[in-house]
Amino acid sequence: RKLDNVTVVVLGASGDLAKRKIYPALFSLYQEGLKPKTWTIIGYARSELSDEDLKKRVTPFMPKPDGRDRSSSNSVPPSPNSTGPKKKEEPLTLEQKLEKFFEDCHYVQGSYDEQQDYERLNKEIEKYEEGKKSNRLFYLSLPPNVFLDAANNLGEFCKTKSGGWNRIVIEKPFGRDLASFQELSEGLNKSFNSHEIYRIDHFVGKEVVQNLNVLRFANVIFDPLWHRSNIKCVQIIFKEQLGVEGRGGYFDHYGMIRDVVQNHLMQILCLVCMEPPVSLSPEDINAEKIKLLKAISKIDKEDFVIGQYRAKNISGKEYPGYLDDETVDNNSITETFAACVLKIKNRRWDGVPILMKAGKALDEKVLEVRIQFKDVPGNLYTEHKVSPNELVIRIQPDEAIYFKIMNKIPGYTDRLTESLLDFTYKDQKKSINIPEAYARLMCDVLIGNENNFISEEELSLSWKIFDPVLEQMEKLHMTPEPYAFGSRGPVEADYLAARHGVKWSETE
Ligand code: BG6
Repeated sequence: RKLDNVTVVVLGASGDLAKRKIYPALFSLYQEGLKPKTWTIIGYARSELSDEDLKKRVTPFMPKPDGRDRSSSNSVPPSPNSTGPKKKEEPLTLEQKLEKFFEDCHYVQGSYDEQQDYERLNKEIEKYEEGKKSNRLFYLSLPPNVFLDAANNLGEFCKTKSGGWNRIVIEKPFGRDLASFQELSEGLNKSFNSHEIYRIDHFVGKEVVQNLNVLRFANVIFDPLWHRSNIKCVQIIFKEQLGVEGRGGYFDHYGMIRDVVQNHLMQILCLVCMEPPVSLSPEDINAEKIKLLKAISKIDKEDFVIGQYRAKNISGKEYPGYLDDETVDNNSITETFAACVLKIKNRRWDGVPILMKAGKALDEKVLEVRIQFKDVPGNLYTEHKVSPNELVIRIQPDEAIYFKIMNKIPGYTDRLTESLLDFTYKDQKKSINIPEAYARLMCDVLIGNENNFISEEELSLSWKIFDPVLEQMEKLHMTPEPYAFGSRGPVEADYLAARHGVKWSETE
């Protein structure tokens, strides 16, 4: 049965995340025919805006109208007065779809901490719901200092009492450390129950991350290989080419470990390293992630390298350093790069270094998992270079899964070469529709699929892993290693890997 009567309230509608990600995600659901039968989208923020102003702000981030878009079944209904043979329905153009989408979008101005503003918001919502049984989704696209005020006021004044569901979506930062995370959780739990809270981690919504369980648990070949007896190391690498670009206000207070490693990369780590769950229910998957997180040893500051990018002139263009950014404190020692080695103390992974690396202003944009296998025992090809096998799971850009194997060079030769068993998504004959991570997850919230969301316990355990080392770094005032804009990051990250007997294997 198709979901009906949903009000989506986007709090922080005038902000960056809302216009770049949330509205385009909602439009994508509209385009794919995945929206509820009827919905109203209410943007809520402090700025004085009209519905039209909001539309103007959001439009530049929507798909570009470049002629007819035939991707969906939405079409112009035939005129009720038309006579004669039925004309074939004309598909809507992208412009028409956007127009139709925006007809359901409205804006309400209000503060985040005033009770009467939420009472007014509730009245507005009721106006569009017209007394029907309806469901409400509150998306908190807000700065962390107003999370709790907003959640508590929504809980008190804006929940539907019509018999439909209420759901609240919150996104990192989930606190800045264990204590602030616990405070946030306690506050949230006062207003919403555990099935109403959706903690989103948009990396989990990325298509190839969604494929990790399938790759591991719907294939027989990987199971026996996925073990310390065959695997030399696991690497999870996230590199961005952009610097902080004016987002320093938020970033400078958090840094790369809190912004990406403690949450996004740990989620990927869990999916790569957890044991097979008993079933695919959210509870069973969660139980395995928790078991894994509990098995990760405390990290020492020696297992971390942090860096900060410096200005660099590349081909005549000057790229500013982190400290040159106007939104960043001149003396900041916040890390824009972090590399670390984790150890998992269980039967599958004991002794296998798990390397993670994340950085801004680096030489390439990539997010990938690399499983490096051990050298061939008793190698017969001593005259040749035999590279160990490697499974690469490239999440972005250019989604792919490929396996590096040794092959004989065809022809009158005995020489060997490294070849790829390559599944690159875009090379497939059938065109593949890869949804945006936010759209995928928004769809899950609407249908109540809790599978792809992060539990309170997972986050708490993840904080327990990183909290001591972060505290230590802060106490010692640890200064990050400088690295040039556009480089591979500080060379100390290579020494870190070498200390664990391995090498970073990302494409160079
Ligand atoms: C966000 C981080 O969660 O993820 C940003 O706060 C980062 O610093 C971003 O740039 C990367 O996401 P994506 O999906 O664009 O790779």
